[in-house]
Amino acid sequence: MEGRAGIDAVSADREDRVESLLASMTLPEKVGQVVQVNLGEDRVPPELAAEIRDGRAGSVLNAVGSEVTNALQRIAVEESRLGIPLLLGRDVIHGFRTVFPIPLGQAASWDPEGVRAWSRIAALEASWAGVNWTFAPGLDIGRDPRWGRVAEGLGEDPHLSARLAEAMVRGFQGEDLSVAGSIAACAKHFAGYGAVEAGRDYASAAIPEAELRDVHLPPFRAAVDAGVATVMTAFHDLNGIPASANEVLLRVVLREEWGFDGMVVSDWRSIPELVVHGVAADEADAAAMAARAGVDMDMAGGAYGSHLARLVREGRVSEDRLDGMVRAVLRTKLRLGLFEAPYTDPSRFPAPGCEPHLEATRMAAIRSAVLLKNDGVLPLEVAQLSRVAVIGPLADDGYEQLGTWVFDGDPDLSRAPLPALREALGGRVHVDAVRALESTRSRDTAGIPAAVAAAARADVAVLFVGEESILSGEAHSRADIRLPGAQERLILAVAETGTPVVMVLMTGRPLALAAVADAVDAILCVWHPGTMGGPAIADLLLGRATPSGKLPATFPRMTGQVPLYYARRNTGRPARPDRITLLEDLPPRAPQHSAGNVSFHLDAGAEPLFPFGHGLSYTRFEYADIRAEPPALRPDGSVTITAEVRNVGERGGEEVVQLYIRDLVASMTRPVRELKGFRRVTLEPGERRTVSFTLTAADLAFHGRDLRPVAEPGRFHAWIGGSSRADLRTTFELEER
Ligand code: BGC
Repeated sequence: MEGRAGIDAVSADREDRVESLLASMTLPEKVGQVVQVNLGEDRVPPELAAEIRDGRAGSVLNAVGSEVTNALQRIAVEESRLGIPLLLGRDVIHGFRTVFPIPLGQAASWDPEGVRAWSRIAALEASWAGVNWTFAPGLDIGRDPRWGRVAEGLGEDPHLSARLAEAMVRGFQGEDLSVAGSIAACAKHFAGYGAVEAGRDYASAAIPEAELRDVHLPPFRAAVDAGVATVMTAFHDLNGIPASANEVLLRVVLREEWGFDGMVVSDWRSIPELVVHGVAADEADAAAMAARAGVDMDMAGGAYGSHLARLVREGRVSEDRLDGMVRAVLRTKLRLGLFEAPYTDPSRFPAPGCEPHLEATRMAAIRSAVLLKNDGVLPLEVAQLSRVAVIGPLADDGYEQLGTWVFDGDPDLSRAPLPALREALGGRVHVDAVRALESTRSRDTAGIPAAVAAAARADVAVLFVGEESILSGEAHSRADIRLPGAQERLILAVAETGTPVVMVLMTGRPLALAAVADAVDAILCVWHPGTMGGPAIADLLLGRATPSGKLPATFPRMTGQVPLYYARRNTGRPARPDRITLLEDLPPRAPQHSAGNVSFHLDAGAEPLFPFGHGLSYTRFEYADIRAEPPALRPDGSVTITAEVRNVGERGGEEVVQLYIRDLVASMTRPVRELKGFRRVTLEPGERRTVSFTLTAADLAFHGRDLRPVAEPGRFHAWIGGSSRADLRTTFELEER
């Protein structure tokens, strides 16, 4: 109770300070607080200094380094009339100087504690540089890997994304935002941005409200519940309403339903773009619309700065609304403790790129790697090797392994796979390196024969293929998600030699690998693994570390199958293996032939290549003895699902135990499976562990026909296992009220 009273006193005091500041502000000063301007250079230009001095800017983005950030803060604090410090924002998305795996890769770790720790390091390094606000985490549910921004999100599943969203927020913000080393996080992009049509960035999205609430909003809700300081709108229009003008999302859902009292920032120029969307007549109209909808700060758009004061004077935006916006900004600055400590002292922080940070990102890369396939070639037995061929455009490229959004990442710190493998093999094994293709996109096949020759001489060929960093991320959508360039030809040609082939896949998205998956002996997906990708990969290939990552998103067989995700609905005609006839098996000239009248593609079947949750280990895990207790739960009760997992292989390893449920009969069609829990366990050979998950009625709820959350009585299936294909099942029942 005492602690609670203490917290209330702190926030009451904060609110008092907000009110007294607000009372002393002129209209132009209020407007200034809701304006964010871009810097993008390492000195303060005189015009910007004047803007800050006059109280015409409350936030600057892309100012990095203590010299420039302290210079900016000094102008704000010492030279402006009210001395209000600045929010200094930057995209610190997956690390700062030390780069961690891309967010989608971190999601493959299914390791909230790891993700928290990695975000913490990013926050420390950003704080060193005077940045006090990151535009992360990205929480867009990514079910269409054509969309390049799936790299920035946490995968296809609301539950996994929500758990990791909390972890990221806690990592960036720490226990207390006002402590040095904590930075404000920003949940983005609110909301439904991952569902843009055809995965084409910035396009429109159409999402029924129940699905929006069941699938796309839970990670944002989790971030808000974890105390995220800020939220960012999105570029796209959702159901015809651009996200930066969506008052239902911003005011009703975020503020009223969820009680969010932090700050909402637009995306980059997304306010003036309301004109381009065709919902605002001009920039002033756009500013009024965004302000009324609940966007507190204008990122680099110039619309609030140019028009808001006049709009308030003319009564088109109420002064009350503007005050609400300013309160949100001031509250954020107070939470960050900026009034007490506006300046950064880099000597108080560990140096970016220091050994402990590098070691953490090596661990992150290991935990994020997903062993998709292994016919037994991995781990490599060094004692039995005399020659290894290391082939491909991504084997030795310290920059490309960092992935998208690495403004401050230092490629010179990167340790690439080729040198790391050479070092790990320690001269005992001859390494033949052949780049073969200039880049992943290269169609020039002239280098393939040299790769084939090297593979033919070797005991094993390790192929580093995938996508360069530029092929994913913002505005980098692809219509065809096969391996680009001549990589499929390269892989097939190398595999033809008969030498065992290990394919190491660096990628920013799930790829369609059907053309090559059968030809290779093992596939290790490392995403864009970050600074220490090389040593991490060497550890994994040589069995010094055991893969334990699991897919946070489905890998389709072919692009045309997407969106393809495990939590699909059943349909009235679900695919059954015995009712599927593939194109090549259709009888000739059979116009009336029925291919089974079930839901599948003639040329791809119904299944993905690798399902959500999938990931192999160098050992094997078996599951047994699933039970639900009690077998029926009351609406105010709970049910515990338990199973035993056993390491039946020869090595120790970590397994991500996953719980899925299915609501068998409901008033709305429900997913065939939904992830409801997961846990990482470490097991020595022969060791067994009982793993339990407890669910309440709230965990069984969905948004019903009336759009209210409801847990409907009836039977549920529950599975526990190592992927979304787990087959160990039990049943329980939710009783009537
Ligand atoms: C992106 C945001 C990012 C912002 C600032 C925009 O283009 O959509 O995710 O935070 O730029 O760099």
